[in-house]
Amino acid sequence: MDQNIIDRTVRTEWFRKDRFGMFIHWGLYSIPARGEWVRSTERISVEDYEPFFKEFNPVDYDPKEWARIAKNAGMKYAVLTTKHHDGFCLFDSKLTDYKSTNTPCGRDLVREYVDAFREAGLKIGFYYSLLDWHHPDYPHYGDRNHPMRENPAYSNENRDFSRYVEYLHGQVRELLTNYGKIDIIWFDFSYDDMAREKWHAAELVRMARELQPGIIIDNRLEGSGEQSGTILTAHPSDYAGDFACPEQMIPPEGVTNELGDSVPWEACITLNDNWGYSAADHHYKSSRMIIRNLVECVSKNGNLLLNVGPDSKGRFPEESVRILEDVARWMRDNHESVYGCRQADYPKPEWGRYTQNGKKLYAHIYEETMGAVCLKGLAGKIDHMRLLKDGSEVFQLNHWNVREYPEDAFLSFQKGQILTFPLPDEKDTVVEITLK
Ligand code: GLC
Repeated sequence: MDQNIIDRTVRTEWFRKDRFGMFIHWGLYSIPARGEWVRSTERISVEDYEPFFKEFNPVDYDPKEWARIAKNAGMKYAVLTTKHHDGFCLFDSKLTDYKSTNTPCGRDLVREYVDAFREAGLKIGFYYSLLDWHHPDYPHYGDRNHPMRENPAYSNENRDFSRYVEYLHGQVRELLTNYGKIDIIWFDFSYDDMAREKWHAAELVRMARELQPGIIIDNRLEGSGEQSGTILTAHPSDYAGDFACPEQMIPPEGVTNELGDSVPWEACITLNDNWGYSAADHHYKSSRMIIRNLVECVSKNGNLLLNVGPDSKGRFPEESVRILEDVARWMRDNHESVYGCRQADYPKPEWGRYTQNGKKLYAHIYEETMGAVCLKGLAGKIDHMRLLKDGSEVFQLNHWNVREYPEDAFLSFQKGQILTFPLPDEKDTVVEITLK
């Protein structure tokens, strides 16, 4: 087998077990509060964005509280935007003045995040934007995304991209040197010819792995939410990354490569419709939907990286906290059906989904069925069944009305009852089926 595939399989072992992480998009854009692309969508110049830099002061930033919320929700790792596309750094980089320590806040926010999340036992991820709309050597006019892309006054004549690449490599070196063990680096993203060796990707990956042996790298030195790159091939490049990261969608059948083998993947999903804080966006998903999204990812061998966009004071939006509290309650009772689980050996059932861990098959029942719940093809294969949340007995039904289906098993929550009952948990009722 291809060495890069073998290596990524080893590196991602914990990642493929942990399944659930928190994405955090935070920066100056939390002040205009119209999402992290605000400079680009509204064509805001560096000068017109400057007031937010002069003002940035998240007095309520309490990363221990963030870590508590994440851990409570059952998340095992986190990924924080150390620098997003606007170029503003939440860390004390020696290579720029455009950083949190030079705002009224005066703090290295990354350091505090690392300390708090590590103390809580969560694995540490850094998001780092390959794009940089603040750096003078990054292409402006004519670029696909730059805020000044339509403004010929920002021509690229005197821009030296190699200086930007040096800056990018230098900052990654800082991030991977100054903060102890880092578990994930999440580069974002490649587009047009701004991809692969344009970033000096081979050298960058070599450096990252040298500084942080075992670090997991995403696939966006080649790809983006639009396309995954050579990670889907039988011979991924040296910078193809360790996992694919579909964005705002869950792949219909998980992610497999051209050989048909499962590729580690992580769907990144927002709680409302924005990554960065957006004051007017109250279009939040229900906790039920989030729980089912997580289960869907796991049922297809994937992870969920769920985003929170803290406001300019450093607080998580109230709605996000409320959803995560619901998720926490469900995860407290049902986490065994997530951690260490994978795609089941049985096809997706009509009433919900399966996840599996060895001899434990978890039935995630979403829909009330007419009569007993049909477990297709499971006749004779079940040792016993328990409601996962309280360990109480769940029953197999062998009544007259199911006898014409000898291949299938039938599940009932009440002994001997052939009729439907309301599901114990309308978000996702999990039955642990221990197979023989
Ligand atoms: C993107 C966006 C971005 C966000 C990211 C998350 O490619 O540019 O704002 O950080 O995806 O996946």
